[in-house]
Amino acid sequence: MSDAKPQAPQDPLPLCASDDLQERGKAHTFHVLQYRQPASAFALRFDGQVVAYLNRCAHVPTEMDWQEGEFLDGDKQYIMCSIHGAVYDPLTGRCVSGMCGRIGLTKIEVEEREGQVYWYPSRDTQPAFEP
Ligand code: FES
Repeated sequence: MSDAKPQAPQDPLPLCASDDLQERGKAHTFHVLQYRQPASAFALRFDGQVVAYLNRCAHVPTEMDWQEGEFLDGDKQYIMCSIHGAVYDPLTGRCVSGMCGRIGLTKIEVEEREGQVYWYPSRDTQPAFEP
């Protein structure tokens, strides 16, 4: 029998106003600690849903945006890495094509309610102070 205790869910943290995320528009970027190391993350709205991921390509662990907050391809159909063009499904983070293999993006749980977007820290992904 394991002594491991179940991980208590962590309280959601305010991320941005709902109005800050336009459909297939610029992402809201924010800073986190991933395994206690500084990392960046982003949230965007796609097909009405807010999704969030670490800003870290599955090919090479580097940031993917073309310009800050710009993650979508020219047709605004997919998240596309600006380095070598790996393509991800915006709603799942799964690799669609390119050099991202089976790993896909690291998802961050988010919730939208009453005009506000919240994100949920996890055991691996914790809040960081904004620089
Ligand atoms: S670093 Fe993203 S496709 Fe190579």
